[in-house]
Amino acid sequence: MFIGLDLGTSSLKAILMDASQTIIAEHVVPLSVQRPQDGWSEQDPQSWCDAAMTALAALAARADCSAVRGIGLSGHMHGATLIGTDDRPVRPCILWNDTRSHQEAAAMDADPAFRAVTGNIVFPGFTAPKVEWVRTAEPEIFAITAKILLPKDYLRLFLTGEYGSEMSDAAGTAWFDTGARDWSDDLLAACHLTRNHMPRLVEGSSPSGRLRADIANEMGLPPAIVAGGAGDNAAAAMGAGVVGEGSAFLSLGTSGVLFAANDGYRPDPESAVHTFCHACPGTWHQMGVILAATDALEWLARLTGQSAAALTQDLGPVTAPGKTLFLPYLGGERTPHNDATIRGQFLHLDHATDARAAARAVLQGVSYAFADSKSALAQTGTTLTRALVLGGGAKSDHWVHMLASTLNIALDVPKDGDFGAALGAARLGMMAATGAGTEIATQPPLARTIDPDPKLAQALRAGHARYQHSYAVLKDL
Ligand code: XUL
Repeated sequence: MFIGLDLGTSSLKAILMDASQTIIAEHVVPLSVQRPQDGWSEQDPQSWCDAAMTALAALAARADCSAVRGIGLSGHMHGATLIGTDDRPVRPCILWNDTRSHQEAAAMDADPAFRAVTGNIVFPGFTAPKVEWVRTAEPEIFAITAKILLPKDYLRLFLTGEYGSEMSDAAGTAWFDTGARDWSDDLLAACHLTRNHMPRLVEGSSPSGRLRADIANEMGLPPAIVAGGAGDNAAAAMGAGVVGEGSAFLSLGTSGVLFAANDGYRPDPESAVHTFCHACPGTWHQMGVILAATDALEWLARLTGQSAAALTQDLGPVTAPGKTLFLPYLGGERTPHNDATIRGQFLHLDHATDARAAARAVLQGVSYAFADSKSALAQTGTTLTRALVLGGGAKSDHWVHMLASTLNIALDVPKDGDFGAALGAARLGMMAATGAGTEIATQPPLARTIDPDPKLAQALRAGHARYQHSYAVLKDL
């Protein structure tokens, strides 16, 4: 048996899977995000460990876990978890959607070495500029920092006692040589750091350590192998069988991701497309990242006092877009704009604009943002014609239809269970413990395929042009 732990932004999800990849048990523990200032986004790393223990105990209460051989970890990427010599965090983790370090990111990005070595723009959300912000804004904290870990790697330290990471998540730090799959000593030195501040690297499908004996005993688990695992997007790809060249997924989570698997390293650091290592040796991927996907809908839910589910139920069939327009840049945007200071916009409101109309505009605005990512990927030579649709937002049929016509691609909807990154993590745990290869990362059975509606697609192209025009006019407001 195998366990997958996915540390998400809003919850930690654990699944228990048997050798035939049947899910035996699952458990979700909610997590909270603190936003102490505009553009800031933080989490208490201790809450991840507490959530993991709660989730493991819940799995153990539901099934006999004594045969667990492998555990895989997945987590939200880019977070800067700074720890002292006692292995305790010296400040809250600065998360992937925190844009406070945009000036540090711009300064680093102006040094051509970063793009040349990492294959990516230095985005404010990446780890290195955040640590540079700590170095200048909180020098006393930087001085006592012994190691810098990505969120799931802090969980690994808690679970195994090892300082470890793997290629897919390390590629999102801006200290990583993405082609060579190793830390870059030069980029670390440019940030007043050395390899000693970094965890040891393994491939996502290789062992990184074993579950600590005390946790294993408490939970009734063996000291199972803990795999390298993956950043949440590469893990979701492993769960969805998006590994081979040309396969793709669209994820409607807190962030929105359009992900394409590549069998070679194809950086395009002039564009805001991300190029990272995939979770298995010799594989890479590209993706466009939208900072607020379901996060934008959750924002509207808080504003209207209605749940996201209530706002999106009974929206009926997708129709040509109305005049109301929403730009989902609540905390800036990555792809294609790399703009930390732009904020969201609602345009063309009238007396008839009610919560439903606003919800439609939010879903449409996020769909246009995905269309921008699709164009950015196309400019790097990656043309998508179909993709699996994943994530909590995919429960809305209306949104999936809207996306298919806005992007003008076929969207494959998996049959049941949204195990995504947790399943990918469990698969990586299985690979590390048994030596199985990528053949176990099969695509899920499909419930249906949503094809674009050509008439609607035409109307949505006009809507998308209006959306892009609005961004161009409003970005400096
Ligand atoms: C990817 C990214 C997000 C986070 C949170 O670059 O920042 O997708 O991994 O899910």
